[in-house]
Amino acid sequence: MNRKDEHAALAMDFYRESGNDFDLIRLVHNSFPEMSVAETSLTTEILDREFPLPFFINAMTGGSEKTKEYNRQLAEVAKECDLMMATGSVSAALKDPSVADSFTVVRQVNPNGFIASNIGAGSNLEQAQRAVDLLEANALQIHVNVAQELVMPEGDRDFSQWLAKIETIVRHLPVPVIVKEVGFGMSRKMVQQLVDCGVTAIDISGRGGTSFTRIENARRPQQELAYLTNFGQSTPEALLEALEVPQIFDLIASGGIQNAYDIYKALVLGARSCGVSGKMLHTVINGGPEAGIRLVEDWSKELRLLMTLTGQRNLKDLREVPVTFSGSLLEWCFNREID
Ligand code: FNR
Repeated sequence: MNRKDEHAALAMDFYRESGNDFDLIRLVHNSFPEMSVAETSLTTEILDREFPLPFFINAMTGGSEKTKEYNRQLAEVAKECDLMMATGSVSAALKDPSVADSFTVVRQVNPNGFIASNIGAGSNLEQAQRAVDLLEANALQIHVNVAQELVMPEGDRDFSQWLAKIETIVRHLPVPVIVKEVGFGMSRKMVQQLVDCGVTAIDISGRGGTSFTRIENARRPQQELAYLTNFGQSTPEALLEALEVPQIFDLIASGGIQNAYDIYKALVLGARSCGVSGKMLHTVINGGPEAGIRLVEDWSKELRLLMTLTGQRNLKDLREVPVTFSGSLLEWCFNREID
C-alpha cells in the first residue's frame, strides 16, 4: 500500500476517543458569570490575522488518489466553515509532480481560503518556497518529527542543521511559518530555541491522540523501539512548557483534541488556536464533509457555552480562568519546577 494511504488507514484503525491528559485539567466553577451567551466572540488572532474560530484542520494527507479524496472533503469543510487548513507534507509532490493534484485539490475546492502547506524540517529555503507556490499557500508549516523518523528503518538518520535551516526559511519566506511537532510535544527549551530562530508561530503538537511511533511500527513485522508508542510530552504538558518561555509568540495546540472541551482547556492553558487531525479525518471518512461541517458547528456552539460558563466574553483573557491539575500532569509540574 502507498505510505500515505497506510498512514491514514492506521491512524483511523488506532483512532480512539479514550482519555488523555486533558482529563487531568479541571476548570474551577463560578456560578456568577454575569454575561450572556450572545456576548461571546470566538475570534482569535494568529499569523497576524484574525480567524473567526480558534481551531483548524491540521496537517494530514495528500500523495495518493485516496488521500486526494480525503483532502477534497477536508477542504470542503474548511471552505464552508472558514477554517484554516494545512495539507500533509508536500515533499512527495516536490519530488514527483504526478501526485501534486492530491494536494492542489485543496486550493481548487477553496480558492480564497487560508491554506498552509507543509514540509519537513531539514528542507531548504528553495524547497520551502516551492511548497508554498504549489498551493499558493498563505502560510507554511515545517514539521519536526525525529521520533517518527527514527522508528522507520528507512527514515532519516541525520538531523543536523535543522534549526539553522528553519531560521533561514523564517527570515526569508514571504509567508508566515508555523513550526510543528507531529504528536510528541515540545519542551520549554525547544520552544525557546525556535523563538530564538525568529519563529513566531509554534504548534507544540503533543501526545494524546495520533501516535506516529505506533503507526510506523504497525507498517512492518519488525518493530523498532516499540516502547516509544506513548513517547513524548502530552499536549497539556507541552503547553505548560511553552508558557515558561517569556517572549510572545502564537502558541498553537494540537494532539488528541477530541471535543470542544479539550479545545477550551488548551485555550485556557494559553493556546491561541488548536489543530485537529485524527478526529476530523475520522469524522469526514465516516460521514463525509457534511459530518465535518456539523462537528465544526457543534464545537463552535459549545465553545460559546463554555465561555459563558466561565464568564469570558472573548478568548484573549482565558488565562484568568482558574484550573486545577491532577495525576501525571501535576507530577509533571513538580518535576519540572526543579529542572
Ligand atoms: C498527520 N500529521 C502530520 N503532520 C505533519 O506535519 N505533516 C504530515 O504530513 C502529517 N501527516 C499526518 C497524517 C495523518 C493520517 C495524521 C492523522 C496526522 C500529524 C498531525 O498534524 C498532528 O500533529 C498529530 O496527528 C496529532 O494530532 P491528532 O491527530 O491527535 O489530532
